[in-house]
Amino acid sequence: MTLKKQSIVVAGGGSTFTPGIVMMLLENLDKFPIRSLKFYDNDKERQKQIADATEVIINERAPEIEFKATTDPEEAFTDVDFVMAHIRVGKYAMREKDEKIPMKYNVIGQETCGPGGIAYGMRSIGGVLEIIDYMEKYSPDAWMLNYSNPAAIVAEATRRLRPDSKIINICDMPVGIELRMAEVLGLESRKEMDVRYYGLNHFGWWTDIRDKEGNDLMPKLIDWVKEHGYITPSELEGTSDEEVEPSWEYTFGKAKEVQWLDPDTLPNTYLKYYFYPQDEAEHSDINYTRANEVMDHREKHVFSECNRIANIKTAEDAKLVADDHASYIVDLARAIAYNTKERMLLIVPNHGAVENFDPEGMVEVPCIVGSQGPEPMTQGSIPRFQKGLMEQQVAVEKLVVDAWITGSYQKLWQALTLSRIVPNARVAKQILDDLIEANKDFWPELK
Ligand code: NAD
Ligand code: G6P
Ligand code: MN
Repeated sequence: MTLKKQSIVVAGGGSTFTPGIVMMLLENLDKFPIRSLKFYDNDKERQKQIADATEVIINERAPEIEFKATTDPEEAFTDVDFVMAHIRVGKYAMREKDEKIPMKYNVIGQETCGPGGIAYGMRSIGGVLEIIDYMEKYSPDAWMLNYSNPAAIVAEATRRLRPDSKIINICDMPVGIELRMAEVLGLESRKEMDVRYYGLNHFGWWTDIRDKEGNDLMPKLIDWVKEHGYITPSELEGTSDEEVEPSWEYTFGKAKEVQWLDPDTLPNTYLKYYFYPQDEAEHSDINYTRANEVMDHREKHVFSECNRIANIKTAEDAKLVADDHASYIVDLARAIAYNTKERMLLIVPNHGAVENFDPEGMVEVPCIVGSQGPEPMTQGSIPRFQKGLMEQQVAVEKLVVDAWITGSYQKLWQALTLSRIVPNARVAKQILDDLIEANKDFWPELK
């Protein structure tokens, strides 16, 4: 069967993740053929550096693909089947502020969790809605696959403000952790595992993991994780060829202490911020946060490599590699384009998938994906511990969206106060006032 060729626009063409996604798309052309690839960004200069290298790569490896980079929405969003969106409104300069402002008050500063995530959410909502609206104006049948963060808040905003839009929110953290689980189990592929999982984005638990014969793989994994977290055997032996930055190594190790809270399940790494906020605050350095680490490493590497490729006009020795984690993006697009019924974890309206949880909450659960979109799989009732945590966190996320829609200072103060990461309402207010000042150019005005 010949597969229909697809037209893609990557929104946030200037993202540090764009080259990895391009390489991954090029490696999967047999499964997901592409006729047109476009980049769209609102920062022309940043995007151009990635685009110039991409042009060289495509000319060498798949010259049949039509490639174009543009800042013009009409040109970008006309005649596309998929919008793959990964924008960062405010870029790393604002991520750095999200991380550093809470730290002035000894509170964790993090990209998607706590006050940093709330601040980022208030910036992202408008940017993501704008992209949905361009898509619907110029390609009304297209689907948007969104991984712009903070995905939980963005997903709640789109559920409420664009309820009929064809948008699916996804996260790569479960994929990244499942790759590690597969290594612990000695499996060749994470796809040999069928998982049950529930939670909010960056806030969930695996409850069951089986191989294709139905054998229970949880006991072996739990034995490993309770001692080593998600550090893999090869990392432990020092024989791993994957380079993991120190901050992620710490996170994967810390997962063991997170797992101890509920010994029968396996946690998402992000729960560490909610269970051990003081440890995290102590472990971080206000003068050098993750944003600094990313700017010094990933951003420098990606842009210098792209500039080098564009200058020498060949990508034969390119040090840009397909992002392993990103393969889920092709799986998702394929599922919709060719009705593959792939089983994947996605962020979707609950509507009973978690029986005893808010039907209007956006949850992360396994879904079967076909050409009509995701069909969530029910995960049953959840225990009081997780339910309590999730109720509190989903209320934070909903209050942020309330604040964005109504321009309410009070709602945002409530959101910050309700976050487990913030110690009290007074500190919440101090952080909020600093964040408002820093985000003047991005947030709606709050009254
Ligand atoms: P980046 O800053 O390198 O790239 C983001 C790009 O978005 C920039 O080029 C910027 O100019 C552009 N942009 C900002 N606002 C825009 C707008 N309104 N319209 C069009 N373009 C706009 O960031 P990055 O580190 O590469 O990350 C990109 C995004 O992907 C972030 O939101 C990040 O959190 C997210 N991400 C999500 C997952 C996930 O699990 N869902 C995984 C990795 C990264
Ligand atoms: C994981 C999460 C993403 C997050 C990223 C941060 O992949 O799933 O949601 O954006 O980590 O990574 P960074 O390297 O930018 O700190
Ligand atoms: Mn994520």
